[in-house]
Amino acid sequence: MKVLFVCLGNICRSPAAEGVFLHVLDERGLSSQFVVDSAGTSSFHVGERADARMREHAGRRGIELPSRARQFVANDFKTFDAIIVMDDSNYENCLKLAKSDEDQKRLLKMADFCPQSGLSEVPDPYYGGAQGFEQVLDMVQEGCENLLKKWGY
Ligand code: 4NP
Repeated sequence: MKVLFVCLGNICRSPAAEGVFLHVLDERGLSSQFVVDSAGTSSFHVGERADARMREHAGRRGIELPSRARQFVANDFKTFDAIIVMDDSNYENCLKLAKSDEDQKRLLKMADFCPQSGLSEVPDPYYGGAQGFEQVLDMVQEGCENLLKKWGY
């Protein structure tokens, strides 16, 4: 199964989701069954590693973030089985590039798998403090577990 996580810059939330998902797959011996990537709807940070603050907070949980930022493209609907977006704006921007109902069905919102947060979006931590980065990690950890459950793992 091929899974793509998407946010705006591809330096904070979607790299965190990608790293957390890879970490959980590794812990469960499922790595060989998945291809995992992340992308941003913007081109602002293309080529960059994940934000140093995001890497620092993930590292404290023993999670590495291997991503290099790239922009989401329409062809990602063909490449990936599931495209997991972080907020409503990401959803709308990806939807604009969808060409069919099949494409649209691949689009899922991470927050829908994070009931403990009580939030409908994964908040953008970029301009905030440490608590925002912790909140992203809490949400994507819960979300990744629930996505695996949804997919029968
Ligand atoms: P992300 O966070 O979408 O979670 O990667 C952001 C990173 C950069 C910017 C906005 C959000 N920016 O405006 O540069």
